[in-house]
Amino acid sequence: MSRLLFGGDYNPEQWPEEVWLEDVRLMREAGVNTATLGVFSWSSLEPEEGRFEFGWLDRAIELLHEHGIGVILATPTASPPPWFSVAHPEGLPVTADGVRLLHGSRDTYNPASPAYRAAAVRIATALAERYGTHPALVAWHLHNEYGTVGFGPEVDREFRGWLERRYGSLAELNRAWHTAFWSQGYSAWEQAFAPQATQYLANPTQLIDFKRFAAELLLDCYREQIEAVRRLSPGAPVTTNFMLPTWLHYDPWAFGEASDLVAVDHYVDARGVEGAAHAALGADLARSFGGGARWLLMEQAANLTMRGGRLLAKEPGAALRTSLQHVARGADGVLFFQWRTAPAGAEAFHSTMVPHAGPDSRVFREVCELGRTLGALDAVASPLAAVPAPGAGGEPVVRARVAIAWSADAWWAADSPGLPAHDEGFYAAVRRTHRALWMAGHVTDFTRLDAGLGRYDLVLVPSHLAASDAEVAALDVYVRAGGHVVVWHFSGTFDSELHIELGGYAGRFAEMLGVRVEELSPLDDGETVALDDGATGTQWSEFVELRGATAEARYTDGLVAGRPAVTGKRHGEGLARYVSTRLDDAAFDALLHRALADAGVAPDAAGAGGGLEIVRRAGADGASFTFAINHTSATRTARLSGTDAFTGALVDGEVELAAGSYAVVCEE
Ligand code: GLA
Ligand code: GLA
Repeated sequence: MSRLLFGGDYNPEQWPEEVWLEDVRLMREAGVNTATLGVFSWSSLEPEEGRFEFGWLDRAIELLHEHGIGVILATPTASPPPWFSVAHPEGLPVTADGVRLLHGSRDTYNPASPAYRAAAVRIATALAERYGTHPALVAWHLHNEYGTVGFGPEVDREFRGWLERRYGSLAELNRAWHTAFWSQGYSAWEQAFAPQATQYLANPTQLIDFKRFAAELLLDCYREQIEAVRRLSPGAPVTTNFMLPTWLHYDPWAFGEASDLVAVDHYVDARGVEGAAHAALGADLARSFGGGARWLLMEQAANLTMRGGRLLAKEPGAALRTSLQHVARGADGVLFFQWRTAPAGAEAFHSTMVPHAGPDSRVFREVCELGRTLGALDAVASPLAAVPAPGAGGEPVVRARVAIAWSADAWWAADSPGLPAHDEGFYAAVRRTHRALWMAGHVTDFTRLDAGLGRYDLVLVPSHLAASDAEVAALDVYVRAGGHVVVWHFSGTFDSELHIELGGYAGRFAEMLGVRVEELSPLDDGETVALDDGATGTQWSEFVELRGATAEARYTDGLVAGRPAVTGKRHGEGLARYVSTRLDDAAFDALLHRALADAGVAPDAAGAGGGLEIVRRAGADGASFTFAINHTSATRTARLSGTDAFTGALVDGEVELAAGSYAVVCEE
């Protein structure tokens, strides 16, 4: 069995069985070694409540197994069948406007409904009983993209229970939610609801508490299935496909800890170098959510995904380069949504490995080339069952010296109503920071601020509006001990209850940063502010006062003229910088360059950056591999030494990489 997994979602139940024979033949031809079955297949597996039809799945799994293709088995619980909706209307989700949704699409379920939860565990158990020890089984893929949030009486009931457990008393709830504002004081638990449609701005603490609750509810659903499956299928690792940003309805760190390994879906949203930067972002998030462990790319698209309702084709070779990026950054498998394009249905135009045109197509030829390429890299991967679980410690598969702070709370806080500016938001700020590091040739991790900072030389903190006591304390300890940090405007303004630290904004980090932010001065659309080092700021500025820091740059115009714009403070053995505006791209890059240099972080490989990606990762059995991928349209040069993974030739020195080409060398 190959160790580096290659394949995709496969729904044989949507096709006559003659087509299955062609499927396995083409899978062999393409080097596919893994098929993910059962995603959304509930009505084919349980056509009536309690009556299972496993015959087709038995035959499909046997056929794949006979052809040497392993199976990732999904539980179909993201799409309950129509019989479920009719029998259990309370198992359907309600929108924030109070509309109860009905089947007809997917993800139409209510995670707070006992009937839904019981039905989900029942089908998961039935699948595990039947297939849990099947020799073709590679892993479990529970549910699909946990991320459904709904409202309604069942959700309100669960939310109240969560609030009672969190706050213990109504007095505490009223304090935390600051309900004296706008007459929101609660005098009985029954008065508390999930934040549904309301007249004007909602209570921000109620909102973030609901997001935390809803994320835990999904985690409970996941845990129930994990328990059901692990008991009956002890040998197969359990995971679910995390949906990567742009939306966030779960806590990826908590999901990572619950999983045997992290698996993600990532759909690149641009062509060329920008697309490559986006793929690297997805891969670095995936690795980080598993604590640095190997992970799986569970879904990607053979072409670009629908962007703004438009199908965009990938340029030749892009699917291969993207896949190599993921492997370089720690993936032990590269899988697609999906194997064969459906002839009808809502996603009939979603690109796949075997398109509507059939195997005589550019896409399928590229899939075959990808299969051959990955086949030569098998020694990179480990058998899935041997991958250490997230949080088990151990050496990370890729070592990064720089990390970007990431937390669901920070994301949600930045989405709060009533903030002083329409800022770019957490995800955009994080993506910009990651892209700048990628362009400069650095591999980046994402990190929680409250754990494990010591392994990094530099920690970047963009748009981290809410910081918990534990985060504040851990960052302070890290810097005092010699760590370097850059904190961006407005970060550390709120605590976990979204109460503003009084005395100055960014107040949670103020002592470490050595500044007092007396007043905010967000900029109007199109308004800019100049700095004395030639930089320009947009979107945001602040009246900053030095309280132990020194000014690295000052504003020279606007309301904030003369005030510090960028500051630095020696804090213990470390260095803490603060940036009080959104710097233009060149100034942003220059700032990162300075921060990296001060922290002693050089690019991971000579020549890397500007679209030439060079990443070193651990292979199996102590080997390590260096991947060099040229995403640009010009020839680039990389310094490599080791054995060429494709030709076996010894490489030592400068290697020319033509536009769009790549090299992989193995160092023993
Ligand atoms: C109105 C309301 C106030 C306050 C302001 C904010 O004037 O009466 O309570 O909300 O708007 O602009
Ligand atoms: C998600 C789902 C897939 C498919 C793709 C389309 O990743 O898991 O089933 O719908 O989106 O992009």
